[in-house]
Amino acid sequence: MSVGLEVSGLVTDFESRQHSVRALHGISFEVGESEIVGIVGESGSGKSTVVRSIIKLLMPPGRVAEGHVDFYGTSLLELRERELRRIRGKEIGFVAQNPFSALNPVLRIERQFQNIARAHGIPRDDEMRRRAIELLEATGVKEAERVIGGYAHELSGGMAQRVVIAMALFLNPRLVIADEPTTALDLTVQRQVLDTLTRLTTGSGRSMLIVTHDLGVVAKYCDRVLVMYQGRLVEQGPVSKVFVTPEHDYTASLLESVVRPDAAPPAGTAPIPAVDLVGAPRPGGL
Ligand SMILES: Nc1ncnc2c1ncn2[C@@H]1O[C@H](COP(=O)(O)OP(=O)(O)OP(=O)(O)O)[C@@H](O)[C@H]1O
Ligand SMILES: [Mg+2]
Repeated sequence: MSVGLEVSGLVTDFESRQHSVRALHGISFEVGESEIVGIVGESGSGKSTVVRSIIKLLMPPGRVAEGHVDFYGTSLLELRERELRRIRGKEIGFVAQNPFSALNPVLRIERQFQNIARAHGIPRDDEMRRRAIELLEATGVKEAERVIGGYAHELSGGMAQRVVIAMALFLNPRLVIADEPTTALDLTVQRQVLDTLTRLTTGSGRSMLIVTHDLGVVAKYCDRVLVMYQGRLVEQGPVSKVFVTPEHDYTASLLESVVRPDAAPPAGTAPIPAVDLVGAPRPGGL
């Protein structure tokens, strides 16, 4: 399998005059072509910092201090902002953890889709409009025609999340990076949107890096999983291996925490919910 994204030795600091925090302590991993890779870990472990470091969208005062990010032969961290803009949106789609932060409050949604296309020299035409509407419908937006004519403040959190997902997919990027893309959605809708997201993302070598709190999501959709703990990647590997025979204590406790009380194994057996989490077929068939 060839590698699409290769992250090596990523160190990221949040440095202000008052204090300095090292948020990432040397993170290395790869996302192969056609792969879906999940990032899990407790709140504050550095998941968003990892994905934002990769595309240089860190919240201030964040700064990548060390490391290298290779995306199909391009060193992302060495690019100028102008060059990065050519990659973001077109080659890498990003779904931010807070959808409203990614939407412009004063532009109609349709205009924001147009701007994504225009930033990459794609002319505005009816076909692009149709594609935006189709993507909105695919993520479960009803009355997409009306939504596209409106503004971000008219949207619920869940609707905004779907709009941002549709925007990330708009130009058919090779890699989609999604930071908790469905947290504002109801559980049943989450699965529907994730089915759509993975189906539309993968295929023809496209890949996805998805941050989630939900180990069930990882089991269902991901090929490999990265486990973060306090700014370090403590474990990574195929989901079937990491979830069945975790090597790190933190991974084991994470897995134990999702065992349903009624599914708790008898004393003396491995406390890993192997049947619950692994083996669910993935939609989209890679
Ligand atoms: N804007 C910021 N200013 C200062 N420090 C920050 C900032 N953003 C993140 N950090 C630091 O980086 C660490 C990792 O934060 P990050 O947002 O990446 O965690 P996360 O795993 O995405 O958490 P969550 O699951 O809550 O989204 C935090 O604990 C904090 O120390
Ligand atoms: Mg986060």
